Amino acid sequence: MAKEAKTILDLLKEKRVFSPRKDFSENAHVKSESVYKKASRSREAFWEGFAKELDWYKKWRKVLDWKTPHSKWFVGGKINISYNCIDRHINTARKNKAAIIWEGEPGDSRVITYWDLYREVNKFANVLKKLGVKKGDRITIYLPMIPEAAVAMLACARIGAPHSVVFGGFSADSLRDRINDSQAKILITSDGGFRRGSVVPLKKNADEALFGAASIEKVIVVKRVGEKAQIEMKEKRDLWWHELMENAPQYCEPEKMDSEDMLYILYTSGTTGKPKGIVHTTGGYLVGVYATTKWVFDLKEEDTFWCTADIGWVTGHSYIVYGPLANGATSLMYEGAPDYPDRDRFWEIVEKYGVNIFYTAPTAIRVFMKWGEEYPRKHDLSTLRLLGSVGEPINPEAWMWYYVNIGNKKCPIVDTWWQTETGMILITPLPGVTKLKPASATKPFPGIEADVVDENGKSIEVGAGYLVLKSPWPAMLRTIYGDPERYVQQYWSRFPNMYFTGDGAKRDKDGYLWLLGRVDDVMNVAGHRVSTMEVESALVDHPSVAEAAVIGKTDELKGQAISAFVTLKESIKSNSGLVDELKKHVTKKIGAIARPDDIIFTAELPKTRSGKIMRRLLRDIAEGRALGDTTTLADPTIVRQLKDKYEDKEG
Ligand code: WT7
Repeated sequence: MAKEAKTILDLLKEKRVFSPRKDFSENAHVKSESVYKKASRSREAFWEGFAKELDWYKKWRKVLDWKTPHSKWFVGGKINISYNCIDRHINTARKNKAAIIWEGEPGDSRVITYWDLYREVNKFANVLKKLGVKKGDRITIYLPMIPEAAVAMLACARIGAPHSVVFGGFSADSLRDRINDSQAKILITSDGGFRRGSVVPLKKNADEALFGAASIEKVIVVKRVGEKAQIEMKEKRDLWWHELMENAPQYCEPEKMDSEDMLYILYTSGTTGKPKGIVHTTGGYLVGVYATTKWVFDLKEEDTFWCTADIGWVTGHSYIVYGPLANGATSLMYEGAPDYPDRDRFWEIVEKYGVNIFYTAPTAIRVFMKWGEEYPRKHDLSTLRLLGSVGEPINPEAWMWYYVNIGNKKCPIVDTWWQTETGMILITPLPGVTKLKPASATKPFPGIEADVVDENGKSIEVGAGYLVLKSPWPAMLRTIYGDPERYVQQYWSRFPNMYFTGDGAKRDKDGYLWLLGRVDDVMNVAGHRVSTMEVESALVDHPSVAEAAVIGKTDELKGQAISAFVTLKESIKSNSGLVDELKKHVTKKIGAIARPDDIIFTAELPKTRSGKIMRRLLRDIAEGRALGDTTTLADPTIVRQLKDKYEDKEG
């Protein structure tokens, strides 16, 4: 134990740069830095090269049509994603290769070959068609991490019905909002899901969501937990997945989709109370995720690839389903929690299936670190050859711990920066060529033009500023569903002709990028994106609350934790019961990911003379810093009192 700690400390102190190992580089897809030059000479030719590796019904006329801020990629091309993820492989040696290896939380498992997936997806596509689903109709998917989630997504893609996957941890209210925004026709859910041995009542939530979601005509229910969930099937509306599948025809002709036809909508939190429906289209998205899966993870035919994200987030869309399957890889999917039944569950799975590539979030790594080395040590992790990180900035300590204890000092770590909006990884090492610095996402992927700029949009060569993207990339979002103005306003207005990411970043003298976190009112809680405004709205929705201000405070494990400052209505007295009640209320309105860690009652919130809540000061208070400049406040005594109160509470 002491010995290992010393090694990590030594490595940290050294500020060593980790060069790719020779044996890794020699066998990597990308062996030389020349790809960066080549891509920047002609970005379009670069992406076209990947497009040519896929199967198209009709070739594109033009690679890119760019009228800032609107892009069209592979213009005029016709393609189907489910064909490329499945049919393309079944006439090859991959026919009976595992496409998805699924491990259920209670220990049940399934291996689904490409041939199995072909059969399932075709049948389910026919089920949807029989229920009247047409190209362009939206389908909401609210499922646990079971293979049916991937089957449902691919079946939607097969018939050209955009899917909108809603993370199973979201509440009935959140589900209802997302259904209403997209006006989905069908909802696919399950009787329940397993989480740490108990049952998540998905169908019950769905029933509740459907009061006030009139667009849904049918609900398809997967049986996952059986007797353990008490559910009611509503006649005519609710149908069992397995019954529908029984007589479904075996083949469904894939729809010939235009490159720019919508593939999916995925809701994510923004700086207002209303989540944004990020729209991704077909051709460019597939090219982007295909290319990055292959190069960033150095994916090879024989690899077993495990991305631990949930399918409800973009990471699951791009790197459990579309990217790996387009590459004909074996993608592992795990249903449950990392500590069920014990804290070595992930490592047990790595050993059981001989996982080669493992992709997870810093928040998970920090938890593993806290649990201790004994858990990974119980298992043979020698099959691992590459590790990945995503979702939030990783700290050097966590990077080193991951490198030493999981990667056994032989696996490169790809720290990948991207967003729901970008659809694909944009800043990342290329494992065969990039020298790694612990906790730097290193460089933009070839063909990606990222920059760090100051307030005025001027490029900062060395130093910190705002992260922007200066040219389009194939998997970029095309718009916000139903709100094209918000698309322009949100991403393209802060700096002219640049996509504003909402992140801060620092560039060092070697041109390496270090991500610094969000600079807007978006929090990153355990790798999940949560809007301060959404949590505030949920709090204000409670009858006792007059006003609320929410901030993300630095947290050792979760990156950020949610602190809420709340003023109560005049007749209401604060008490600890009310703290729990408000936490529960937020969980009910949004989901457990948005549950505040602390709630502080205050008679007033610190505001400027123009009435703006000073969140910066609240952050100083929550993180125990000396208060900064308070001269612009309408009433400076308020923060003083609040600070004392907060410190009392902590002490
Ligand atoms: C935000 C996007 C797409 C991945 C899952 C999250 C933060 C993401 C990194 C990284 C530092 C990162 C950014 C970004 N982020 N990856 N490697 N290093 N920060 O997707 O929910 O759309 O959130 O996650 O702040 O803007 P998301």
